[in-house]
Amino acid sequence: KKPELILAFESSCDETSVAVVEDGVKIRSNVIASQINSQKRFGGVVPEVASRHHVEQVTLCAEEAMTQAGVTYGDLTAVAVTYGPGLVGALLIGVSAAKAVAFAHQLPLIPVNHMAGHIYAARLVKPLVYPLMALLVSGGHTELVYMRGAGEFEIIGDTRDDAAGEAFDKVGRVLNLAYPAGKKIDDLSKLGQDTFNFPRAMIKDANYDFSFSGLKSAFINKVHNAEQRGEKLSKPDLAASFQASVIDVLITKTMRVCQAYGVGQLVLAGGVAANSALRSALTSAIDQEDPNLDFVVPPIRLCSDNGAMIGAAAHVMMARGARADLDLNADPSLSF
Ligand code: KG4
Ligand code: ZN
Repeated sequence: KKPELILAFESSCDETSVAVVEDGVKIRSNVIASQINSQKRFGGVVPEVASRHHVEQVTLCAEEAMTQAGVTYGDLTAVAVTYGPGLVGALLIGVSAAKAVAFAHQLPLIPVNHMAGHIYAARLVKPLVYPLMALLVSGGHTELVYMRGAGEFEIIGDTRDDAAGEAFDKVGRVLNLAYPAGKKIDDLSKLGQDTFNFPRAMIKDANYDFSFSGLKSAFINKVHNAEQRGEKLSKPDLAASFQASVIDVLITKTMRVCQAYGVGQLVLAGGVAANSALRSALTSAIDQEDPNLDFVVPPIRLCSDNGAMIGAAAHVMMARGARADLDLNADPSLSF
């Protein structure tokens, strides 16, 4: 049987990425052009800057992805693209590029939800077994997503305010760490300890929602009050204490929801899934509390935004009949 080759575009935020994925599970190429160096000096992603980068990069990335995969356009089965959620101008670049390829080569166009892409990154590691639960932690989202079957998503818990990654980035700014600060806080935490005992918001509440803005405020107040007294607090301890609070709440609620829903598999996904302490804490919580729960977490390079995860999701969505016409539009606030 001829392999199903999907050319997948991702441009929802600050990485332009194009991948070729075979049969939804095998990465033939995954080219990622990051804009971190341009966005760093603004302390965050400036939408207009992001769009301009995508315009410059998208064709180069697509050609590079095709070359690395060793395929021609005639070999492709379909073209897939992230159409939301994300920055509208950024999304539109990927959507336009994908449409152009689909039109020029008469290929089906598969629309993909970015968050579904994060979850399906796990499929590049091993087969998914339903029903499953996904803890989706990124710069824009913090969600517990229940999947009864392939392509079926139900949000069980959500953040009431800041997303987990957003909290990492905001707290990092207070510590003078360059954007995005998640990885730097992760590294700094290894040199410190949880000495500040920041609040664990909503940890005991009988729901699966999260809140991180109170933690952020507590952190900022702690640092500012110390500054006013001319005191210097340990950055590694601050980082470790913040991170411990985030992880504590994420893990407590995730373990509880897995039990309540009786799932056999847990997927950790999104940019914050790259966090080393979160990965190991979740591994030990499962070992101790629910050893039969199968834990799937993509390798770090597949946790942050990339085209391969969009190709993996597209393969599932295509089998379920998902198709877009050439009037496909970006949907910045797309939900499951
Ligand atoms: O999924 P992603 O690449 O983009 C979005 O869809 O938002 O996630 C980016 C987020 C950023 O907030 C970044 O600081 C965070 O993921 N992040 C981390 C780590 N690596 C990236 N947060 C904590 N620890 C990390 N090692
Ligand atoms: Zn993302």
